[in-house]
Amino acid sequence: MDTENKKERILTGMRPTGPLHLGHYVGALENWLKLQEQYDCYFLIADYQALGDYAEDVDRIRKSVIDVAIDWLSVGLDPKRSTFVIQSYIPEHAELFMLLSMITPVGMLERNPTLKSEMERLKEISLGFYNYPASQVADILLPKANLVPVGEDQVPHIELTREIARKFNRIYGPVFPEPKALVGRVPRMIGIDGKAKMSKSLGNCIYLSDDEQIVAKKVKKMYTDPTRAKATDPGHVEGNVVFIYLDAFYSDKEKLEELKELYQQGKIGDAETKELLTKTLNNFLDPIREKRAYYLSHPEEVRQALIEGTERARKTAQATIAEVRKAMRITGYEDLENIQKK
Ligand code: TRP
Repeated sequence: MDTENKKERILTGMRPTGPLHLGHYVGALENWLKLQEQYDCYFLIADYQALGDYAEDVDRIRKSVIDVAIDWLSVGLDPKRSTFVIQSYIPEHAELFMLLSMITPVGMLERNPTLKSEMERLKEISLGFYNYPASQVADILLPKANLVPVGEDQVPHIELTREIARKFNRIYGPVFPEPKALVGRVPRMIGIDGKAKMSKSLGNCIYLSDDEQIVAKKVKKMYTDPTRAKATDPGHVEGNVVFIYLDAFYSDKEKLEELKELYQQGKIGDAETKELLTKTLNNFLDPIREKRAYYLSHPEEVRQALIEGTERARKTAQATIAEVRKAMRITGYEDLENIQKK
């Protein structure tokens, strides 16, 4: 049809539950920026899925749909090249999800280790939440994605997707490609408090939208080396949050090695390393801030990115659903006559 179709298609997404932070950048966005050069990328704002966690906080989800879009645009995801999709504006998603649920064994969901561990965390599980891996299968199959970039923890979802695609094709005829997981090196950004994960609920994030002063304040609060009483004591670099962040964001690796030595010898203190980190993070965030300011003053461009992408995705979705209905023989009234003729 057009040249776009020659490229392999990628689908990946995020739940709109709050502003994005450095962990999202290092763990996903940085990779997406590279992928959009090479692939036909669908970036999904999974607001149906967000309801699974925040059904009673719709304001938060709606606001986050826009915030996530602004975060994406600010880091340089390009809505002309990639397709930004609002999940809930594609009703075909719900339809495919329902149809696929007919061939999804409950046991397969129960065995899903990611879901298992998430369920242990929650007091009450809604059917919607329980179903989210199956809903994710529909996310991936609706645009017939070939590749799904995910972290290690999401791999079982892709396995499930492959099994469902295979099963559908076997029963109803070939409709879906079997997508592959694209497991990148997805480093996890630890929180400013040294906890294993940056997470909004732990309040230990540096957001892509934080201004210079806030970044400085958060770096000041960062955990460093609890065994070190004064700057002249030999310091520890391992497990030191400031150095973990410098490793991730400071580009002059040689200089960083020198700094680590000095720190270990007690020749520099936390004040210096923190100052360097503040500068490094602010340099990294400056171009993102500039773009954010642009989009905040051009809200119509944000909407346009979302509308154009979602419309494009909707067409793809409608084409897939038409094929699925045909394969499952639920095409419409004209079929009634065919059945009578038989
Ligand atoms: N579950 C993912 C997350 O919480 C978001 C997501 C929704 C997704 N649908 C997807 C990821 C499909 C990959 C493929 O971040």
